[in-house]
Amino acid sequence: MRILIVFGTTEGHTREICQFAARALREAGHTATVEEVSTDGSDMRLSAYDGLVLAGSLHVARYQPTLTRFAQAHAAELDDKPNAFISVSLSAAGENPDDWEGLEQSLARFEHETGWTPRRVLQAAGAIRYSQYDFFKRLAIKHIAARRGRETETSRDYDLTDYDAVRAFVLDFAAMAAPGGGERPQRSATLTRKESDGR
Ligand SMILES: Cc1cc2nc3c(=O)[nH]c(=O)nc-3n(C[C@H](O)[C@H](O)[C@H](O)COP(=O)(O)O)c2cc1C
Repeated sequence: MRILIVFGTTEGHTREICQFAARALREAGHTATVEEVSTDGSDMRLSAYDGLVLAGSLHVARYQPTLTRFAQAHAAELDDKPNAFISVSLSAAGENPDDWEGLEQSLARFEHETGWTPRRVLQAAGAIRYSQYDFFKRLAIKHIAARRGRETETSRDYDLTDYDAVRAFVLDFAAMAAPGGGERPQRSATLTRKESDGR
């Protein structure tokens, strides 16, 4: 399978997740290409791939505007192929129902804005990168982390991603997307922390 992974990132963690996912796919014998989303993505030939994965991270409840524009511009092509979305956030690192409700709302807004409903979604826990935040961001994230009983020691960074879940998600996606693989709409992979909402 030839899989294209297109990502948006603000602090770089989603890039690392996508590069990890591509390595996992290659180790399983697939061809995987990773591209950071450009302003409109018009130079990307989506038709050259058998499966398309988009990935982005949440910042103040929104995915990267470049990713949103890309999905909007390519909604029809995305729809035409097996496709999946990896949503990276801090909310997915915990079990707080309000946080998970927020994730659903952010995804719904993304779908509404882009006109694209991904067939599979992985809600992946992201990272806390205190070393990359300016003073105000560090304070804000520390406050958010403290309220959730998470990592507040700002002298180091934290990678909260479950890489086994990422690997399982993309390998399952590639297997299901293969001809005769039984590709069918599925809102959450078994290894995401949320149950499928049945769509
Ligand atoms: C300023 C800021 C705002 C954020 N807002 C949210 C948010 O609304 N919801 C959430 O779950 N995570 C939020 N996060 C956490 C990021 O999604 C997480 O750190 C992710 O790993 C960032 O990925 P990136 O490095 O690819 O940009 C925020 C992080 C920062 C620094």
